[in-house]
Amino acid sequence: MSRKKIIAGNWKMNMTPSEAVELVNTLKPLVANDDVDVVFCVPAIDIIPAMEAAKGTNIHIGAENMYYEDKGAYTGEISPAMLKDAGVNYVVIGHSERREYFAETDETVNKKVLKAFEYGITPIVCCGESLTQREQGITLDWIRQQIKIAFLGIPAENAAKAVIAYEPIWAIGTGKVATTEQAQEVCSAIRSCILEIYDEATAEAIRIQYGGSVSAASAPELFAQPDIDGGLVGGASLKPEFGKIVNYNK
Ligand code: G3H
Repeated sequence: MSRKKIIAGNWKMNMTPSEAVELVNTLKPLVANDDVDVVFCVPAIDIIPAMEAAKGTNIHIGAENMYYEDKGAYTGEISPAMLKDAGVNYVVIGHSERREYFAETDETVNKKVLKAFEYGITPIVCCGESLTQREQGITLDWIRQQIKIAFLGIPAENAAKAVIAYEPIWAIGTGKVATTEQAQEVCSAIRSCILEIYDEATAEAIRIQYGGSVSAASAPELFAQPDIDGGLVGGASLKPEFGKIVNYNK
């Protein structure tokens, strides 16, 4: 089975609404590639203007986070209903920066994944090890645990539609991209973990991205790996270079 690649930009806490419109306008002619799904995950305040600017293009606008309750007294949070109503179909969940600075845990990640599916939003579920964990040789155990908890209670038909982003923390924003062997090894282990939890059809369908200092130079080899179905791109998604990453196959 051949999976369609998915290449997503994660803008993080960058771009004011007017800068967002400018960036979408700059990137839209550069990211036209119907062979891949192209997603810009943007700050909540940028979602509507970015969506307006991306109208009529192949760009999907996604969110960087959401809360796991439907509505209520949760000052400052964004609900899945708000995202859905704005036309958002993808949301990044459990990015390592959210885990590190905003106390997200595997359990809150699981609640958010459950809630995203309830609203028909595709979660981009992040996992990844620290440098210490890699040096201790516990990377695969750690990732398996993150995946198993993130997917608790998710039925196979939903899991098959999910996206998992493998992002080694030591590679994020450091310019130190994982080797293709390291990235493929973990992405393949993630697929085996999905096979163990579910079945072959689900493991074959789920899309697994690599993220961490992806550049136009590293993308072609990374995305050619059998278990890597695209990338979650930070820094380079804010530049025209993102067009080259999206068109890695041209
Ligand atoms: O979500 C994206 C990742 O954190 C990767 O960021 O490409 O700047 O290393 P980076």
